[in-house]
Amino acid sequence: MSRRPLDSSVPAIAVHDVSKRYGRTIALDHVDLEVAAGEFVVLTGPSGAGKSTLLNLLAALEKPDTGTIFVRGHRLGRRSRHLNRLRRVEVGLVFQLHNLIPRLTARENVEAAMFETHRGRRQRTARADELLERLDLAERATDRPPTMSGGERQRAAIARAVANQPAVLLADEPSGSLDDHSAQLVFDLFDEMRDGGATILAVSHDSRLEQRGSRVISIADLSTSAA
Ligand SMILES: Nc1ncnc2c1ncn2[C@@H]1O[C@H](COP(=O)(O)OP(=O)(O)OP(=O)(O)O)[C@@H](O)[C@H]1O
Ligand SMILES: [Mg+2]
Repeated sequence: MSRRPLDSSVPAIAVHDVSKRYGRTIALDHVDLEVAAGEFVVLTGPSGAGKSTLLNLLAALEKPDTGTIFVRGHRLGRRSRHLNRLRRVEVGLVFQLHNLIPRLTARENVEAAMFETHRGRRQRTARADELLERLDLAERATDRPPTMSGGERQRAAIARAVANQPAVLLADEPSGSLDDHSAQLVFDLFDEMRDGGATILAVSHDSRLEQRGSRVISIADLSTSAA
């Protein structure tokens, strides 16, 4: 499977006039956001402001009610095999609540992210072990999420999200429950991804992460209707 070359002239993320409601709750109200290829944007904002909703839309897990979303030049919202591949391979998502599969071990959770790639079984295991090792989880490789700590689960979810070397990494509070040492391991991994040209959009209230970002934005400032 060939990877689209990284084209720095196409924004990694382009959100235009996107709104999303859940019943009577307006989760996103006419939001605009553009993230250039290679940027590391940290998105902040109060609880309930729609940060996770925006990441879910960008990961094509949900659809906006109105507006358009482009990820690396591809418009989301059309059902296609390409869209599914884009979501699973080119875009990595770290969920706020981890969303690891409880009956699989940490290693199997990471391996599962690579099922739709060219990697064979041994390569998937090697890549999973490499990431678990880097995130100080080698000893947890055969443990299952219910027996892991919050910070261990968070790191396993990060390993899963970066397994395919995604061009775009969406990370929802990736360092919230990590001590300084574990957070540093994660930030080093993010730096390495950026060196490889990846774009990162991270939701965070963690000042350690905000310092790393090339741009810190508040979700309230993205809403054109609020202006
Ligand atoms: N699946 C859903 N069904 C109904 N309402 C939802 C759903 N998901 C989110 N909401 C609502 O949409 C709004 C935005 O939620 P969202 O999770 O995006 O906020 P957030 O900025 O990520 O908050 P936090 O900082 O607490 O994680 C909230 O009012 C929330 O209750
Ligand atoms: Mg959230």
